[in-house]
Amino acid sequence: MMNVEVFSGDAPVVPAVAVLYYEGQDMSKIWGGAAETAARHFGAIGRKNEWFRFPSLDGGAEVFLVGLGKKKDVPTGAVRDGVAETVRRLGALGIAQAAVIFPDGLDEDLSAAAAEGAVLGNYRFDRFRTPKEGDRTVPMESLFLMGGHQSAVDRGVILGRAQTEARDLANRPGNDITPQTLAERAQKIAEETGLECEIWDETKIQAEGMSALWHVGKGSQTPPRFIHMIYRPKERAKKKVVFVGKGITFDSGGLCIKNRVGIRTMKCDKTGGCNVLAIMKAVAALTPDIEVHGVVGAAENMPDGAAYRPDDIVRAKNGKTIEIVNTDAEGRVTLADSLSFASELQPDVIVDMATLTGAAVTALGNYTAGLLCDHDDLSRAIMDAGCRAGERFHHFTMDDDKLREQIDSPVADLLNSGGPGGGMITAGMFLKEFVNPDIPWAHLDIAAVDFYEKPFGCYGKGASAFGVRTCLEYIRSL
Ligand code: BES
Ligand code: MN
Ligand code: ZN
Repeated sequence: MMNVEVFSGDAPVVPAVAVLYYEGQDMSKIWGGAAETAARHFGAIGRKNEWFRFPSLDGGAEVFLVGLGKKKDVPTGAVRDGVAETVRRLGALGIAQAAVIFPDGLDEDLSAAAAEGAVLGNYRFDRFRTPKEGDRTVPMESLFLMGGHQSAVDRGVILGRAQTEARDLANRPGNDITPQTLAERAQKIAEETGLECEIWDETKIQAEGMSALWHVGKGSQTPPRFIHMIYRPKERAKKKVVFVGKGITFDSGGLCIKNRVGIRTMKCDKTGGCNVLAIMKAVAALTPDIEVHGVVGAAENMPDGAAYRPDDIVRAKNGKTIEIVNTDAEGRVTLADSLSFASELQPDVIVDMATLTGAAVTALGNYTAGLLCDHDDLSRAIMDAGCRAGERFHHFTMDDDKLREQIDSPVADLLNSGGPGGGMITAGMFLKEFVNPDIPWAHLDIAAVDFYEKPFGCYGKGASAFGVRTCLEYIRSL
């Protein structure tokens, strides 16, 4: 695991020094003029993704120039991305130790963002790869940050590790992470961090009235699991928050099977659940005075003689019945039980996150998640947290009564799909039926942002853990 440390005064002896600078930055006072010399040599102007390597002239450290782009109102994003990019590139060059210099200095928020970026940039999903000959890539061992705040750096490392935990789980394929192994991972996290954790197997799931979750999972060789983790602060809790995650370990579509294109990356359909496990792990380390619950209904959606079918009617834990029109709209069916359970905990807030709809991809593209929320204060708090955390959300409400008619069923309380048109919103409206209306609730549709083909900024290739930072920032704001 990478060590991220603050230094002041003399830099530690390292093979590389990276200087991160904004457009138009005055570099004259940095690093005894070496950075300015290098910048002048290359004509560096600080443009985002600018990257120059200035060889060591006297056997000292090599200097790397890393452009951050224009300085924004919230500069943490540029620093998080810049450090991640630096660590990813230095690691690929086989450089394991480096110092990082920020001409503008590092306050607490920037220290945390830099550390977070360091951990994120260092993550690679290589547990199933044999190293290629000639590949010099190493994980970085130590990063020294000039002038940061160590306690904030430590917080940033916790945040970063939570995200790499979530990414690693989500990246692991469906033959590795099943509902059972996901539940085992939750239990392991709980043991290591002192959280409470209860796992329900398929028998208990049915006995507890979670027939919706059971139906989605019953076509699979690996039966569903229900995960409930709890963090309780030492002192009296100021608030109680429940995070709920969609935990479909693989979404084939079930009997309404996906095509060969749509089925790819559906190992990432457990991202919401992986995020929740990671949030719980971070919360255990950050010890806020908030009681935090993590709830995940884990299931694999498969076609089989035992699978649930179109036209089936299933009853969720809160008593409402669902007519299945499409077995590929399975996430919301599992969430019906998880949200019913979350409501019974009588928390102050429920936030669920789910790779729920292709409609989110269509509406928002791949860099913005949907926030569906009819509660003014909560939607504002999540939008603000997302802004500080560097995750983009777009807010939608679910108050359109005509649109709501699309999920009325002639034979049950609800249809599990509202058909084409407003797909992200009708999915949210469906979920709303399973939340106690007195509890402020927000739904994050992270379908479009769960996975990236190419690395950029603080994101590597593969699972993104999008949503973890916002949820942890939200907890911090309480
Ligand atoms: N897991 C998918 C949503 C998804 C799509 C996530 C693309 C990431 C990328 C979800 O279970 C699903 O299949 N949704 C259907 C719902 C439809 C059948 C009503 C969809 O969006 O096509
Ligand atoms: Mn599906
Ligand atoms: Zn799904």
